[in-house]
Amino acid sequence: MDHERKARTPERGRAPSVDSLSIATLCLDTDSAEQIRSFLESMPLAQLATELQHYLADEQDSVFVDRLKDLKPDICIIDFDRDREKASRTAERIREVLTETAIFAASSKSQPDFIIRAMRSGCSEYLAKPVGRDQLLEALARVGARRKEKRELASGQLLAFLSAKGGTGATTLSIHLAAHLARNQGRRTLLVDLHPDLGDAAIFLALTRHQYHFYDLAENAHRLDSDFLQGFVVRHPSGLDVLPAPDGVDSPRHVATDAMQRILEFLRGQYEFVVVDCFPALTEEVMAVIDMADQVFLVATPEIPALRNVARHLEFMGRFDYPRDKVRVVINRHMKGGAITDAQIEKAIRKNIYWKVPNQYNEVIRAINNGDPLSVSPKSDLMASLTEWTASLTGKQPQGSKKQEKGMFGFLGG
Ligand SMILES: Nc1ncnc2c1ncn2[C@@H]1O[C@H](COP(=O)(O)OP(=O)(O)OP(=O)(O)O)[C@@H](O)[C@H]1O
Ligand SMILES: [Mg+2]
Repeated sequence: MDHERKARTPERGRAPSVDSLSIATLCLDTDSAEQIRSFLESMPLAQLATELQHYLADEQDSVFVDRLKDLKPDICIIDFDRDREKASRTAERIREVLTETAIFAASSKSQPDFIIRAMRSGCSEYLAKPVGRDQLLEALARVGARRKEKRELASGQLLAFLSAKGGTGATTLSIHLAAHLARNQGRRTLLVDLHPDLGDAAIFLALTRHQYHFYDLAENAHRLDSDFLQGFVVRHPSGLDVLPAPDGVDSPRHVATDAMQRILEFLRGQYEFVVVDCFPALTEEVMAVIDMADQVFLVATPEIPALRNVARHLEFMGRFDYPRDKVRVVINRHMKGGAITDAQIEKAIRKNIYWKVPNQYNEVIRAINNGDPLSVSPKSDLMASLTEWTASLTGKQPQGSKKQEKGMFGFLGG
């Protein structure tokens, strides 16, 4: 498998911003179209998705309506000069079928009653021709700001689990944490197994009857809506929804950064927590998750090769301008009185250990055999650590839990 070849590095440049706006124009006159095209070429804020020379005023225009529905542009700019009546009806129709799309009117006439009519039919901006660069930029910025605000309000938390070295427990911890969030904390939670083949999450959760996987969903990124998503997720008895990985080994599929961003953004809008079990290679897909994650849990075991990789990963991720506490180190299979002390670990990785999860092989295996992360013995240190961790993520203590002693198994620092 060739994960490394697709790996993205900061030197090769960042992906287009998630905040980039897509624009469709309708019936725009040649000069304005030319002008807007040339403005957009120099603005990273937006790009042109399509230029239609049709109003969507009549029944026979439904083919263009479908086209716009597929494209889901963030903004439609409608020229009101060719036919004011049809332009208004077009705006009304777009407002009806594309509820998330902002509509701009463009016109050389700026009489107040024309502006009012355009606003009534759903336009949020009235661009006076000839359209100026600043005028367009300000209107785009307003849409961008509204979209960001909305996203932040509706946005669930994206938690990424990345094994510093294969086999340190990213899958185990991600499924345990996700199942705790779903059942003990009653949070709408989705687990995504990002492995391009042979994913373990479905096996650990005994989810054998699934037809589709994450990469099938990714191929349909342009068709995402909540009904469509429901056909892809599998429900675990804990209430956790899962998007499994492909379980074969044939030709792993690739998802481009912008499609990954769209999917993750969409999933965040559907769940309170989206937990992603990444695989241990910094491919384009994994980097997209890390970029967008609210928190990245870098999982290592207390042994030299894994810790050395933690230091390398931290150094690599330090090149991006992530908030300081976004990437957190989790020491899994931790043993009190182990060969390497916590102080030695922290010195080696030059960062505090965020969380310690005890080494309890029998408990982990029992959970795997039962296909249920919540079947870990309630009195075990493992259960205590995971319960406490989950509660710290939601800011809510689960009923009947007793607060864990600091410094035992649990929170230490960022
Ligand atoms: N806290 C723990 N105590 C004891 N054993 C553990 C613990 N966490 C994980 N394990 C065991 O470690 C092994 C590897 O775990 P897991 O598959 O979760 O690692 P991974 O990082 O996802 O691996 P990969 O790189 O293959 O995806 C499994 O056999 C699991 O049962
Ligand atoms: Mg794994």
